[in-house]
Amino acid sequence: MIQARFPIVARDELAPGTVLLRLRAPALARAARAGQFVHVRCGDSHDPLLRRPISLHRVGVAGADRGGLQPDEVALLLQVVGRGSAWLAQRRLGDELDVLGPLGRGFRPEPKAGHLLLVGGGLGVAPLVMLADEAVRAGLAVTLAMGTRTAAGVFPARLLPEEVEYAVATEDGSLGQKGLVTDLLPALLPWSDQVFACGPWPMLRALRRLLQLTPAKRAQVSLEERMGCGVGVCYGCVVETRHGRRRVCHDGPVFNLDDVVL
Ligand SMILES: Cc1cc2nc3c(=O)[nH]c(=O)nc-3n(C[C@H](O)[C@H](O)[C@H](O)COP(=O)(O)OP(=O)(O)OC[C@H]3O[C@@H](n4cnc5c(N)ncnc54)[C@H](O)[C@@H]3O)c2cc1C
Ligand code: FES
Repeated sequence: MIQARFPIVARDELAPGTVLLRLRAPALARAARAGQFVHVRCGDSHDPLLRRPISLHRVGVAGADRGGLQPDEVALLLQVVGRGSAWLAQRRLGDELDVLGPLGRGFRPEPKAGHLLLVGGGLGVAPLVMLADEAVRAGLAVTLAMGTRTAAGVFPARLLPEEVEYAVATEDGSLGQKGLVTDLLPALLPWSDQVFACGPWPMLRALRRLLQLTPAKRAQVSLEERMGCGVGVCYGCVVETRHGRRRVCHDGPVFNLDDVVL
């Protein structure tokens, strides 16, 4: 685990309130795995006191196109929801972020899975893009299904590896199929060997209901809980699982969907 200050080398506002930051962070880039997160200080003083958890969105790799990332760079995709995320989104080129990570247990594709189905609700797409990058590099087939309220929240197709099949649903029908991301899944599930999801709890519940109709499919989900320490000490982030209470920051954030009490 690394704690260091890393400079911002690129900043792109993808939509109002949604910002893509690139950090030059060689040590972090080397250690990071898809589904892990970093705990980021969100102020120059100790206010707010607690760091905020942000998924590793992407890591630059020599010889691979990762949305323009250079090797040794790490990307974070941020959505402004409150004070901490607003402070982060206001940082400029050259500013440094105080980052602790990589933290947690990431996604674990099964060795025999050849076709991965990734399901993102809103900003839940953030960690899935790194999984898509890694899977494409490993020669796996990847379908990414994403759902948001309107077209403005859709992750830009131009930033995805061209090998990824991309399916979009918007609640207002302004892009892709009108409806929820889970409406896309009956057509996509039969082709997939393993499912990976990140998004709001109602989306995860709907995914579980769909998977109960096709019990052979296994799914891993990345959970979001409010965090304190981020390293397994404070028990501020526990969730109920079939194996008892588990810490999202230390035992997750990625869990088998079957194990989570939704
Ligand atoms: C493992 C993990 C990965 C994450 N990855 C990302 C990411 O890649 N990009 C990103 O933008 N955000 C991500 N988040 C969510 C992010 O941590 C929160 O949005 C952030 O902590 C909010 O801080 P704030 O000070 O801006 O808002 P606050 O002022 O603390 O809260 C504002 C509002 O957001 C709600 N909220 C705050 N934190 C959470 C949370 N964890 N889950 C649900 N609701 C919350 C609060 O209840 C409140 O309504 C992730 C969270 C976790 C646990
Ligand atoms: S945030 Fe402290 S144990 Fe998870």
